[in-house]
Amino acid sequence: MSRDADDLTRFIRDRAGDAPVRIGLILGSGLGHVADAVDGISIDYKDLPGFPYAGVSGHSPKLTIGELEGQRIAVLGGRAHYYEAGDPAAMRLPLETLKALGAEGLIATNAAGSLDPKMPTGSAMLLTDHINFSGLNPLIGEPTDARFVPMTDAHDPDWRAALVAAAEATSTPLHQGVYAWYSGPSFETPAEIRAIRMLGADAVGMSTVPEIILARFLGLRVAAISAITNMAAGMSDEQIGHAHTKEMAPLGAAKLEAILRNFLARL
Ligand code: HPA
Repeated sequence: MSRDADDLTRFIRDRAGDAPVRIGLILGSGLGHVADAVDGISIDYKDLPGFPYAGVSGHSPKLTIGELEGQRIAVLGGRAHYYEAGDPAAMRLPLETLKALGAEGLIATNAAGSLDPKMPTGSAMLLTDHINFSGLNPLIGEPTDARFVPMTDAHDPDWRAALVAAAEATSTPLHQGVYAWYSGPSFETPAEIRAIRMLGADAVGMSTVPEIILARFLGLRVAAISAITNMAAGMSDEQIGHAHTKEMAPLGAAKLEAILRNFLARL
């Protein structure tokens, strides 16, 4: 664990208490209000030395630590994206800090475009796997052999089964599919969307894959869920844009919250 993560962990424990957290949760664009349900304390990212800025509108850049459904969790209300500063490892320190706080794993959420005509805006999709279409990698430059992270079953099979069970228990429709990472910040062209549909992707977004790679590198279990905010470029007449993403995210967020709460309760 890096010195910075150790220092941050001490800083956070001084404020939030020493009890270890069970899991970390990253909230994507427009999904921030899940943190409001957590009974605990929040610290703005700007008060956490070394934390990335995470300045995309629609995110609430604060760390919240507290109880939800009987579990002590750490919620990252927003993430730093590759497209903000060109650093695919921008989330390394926050994830190292989650691990140092005791987290066994990470649930990542995001807003995404759908490539499947049967998965409309407002759907929730559990990631079964992903395609790193950006070709970028947060472990480039990592000098140790630990960089050779196996990515088979990176999306934890047990946690995926538990999330599916949570969706069933709460009668919440949950799609499953493959997420493709484009760097952004421009949206994809219709030709790019046709290309990744042919390659087997079901949803597309600008985040999450770097965090999954980093989390596996750190030995954290991972599962991820997308809130579908639009049909991807060329697939409908819907307006694609960040304002639309923020407007539509709450539709999927309600589903996500129901699933996550039930998942936590059965953890
Ligand atoms: N493409 C990329 N990222 C996104 C999209 C999309 O269509 N929707 C929400 N985030």
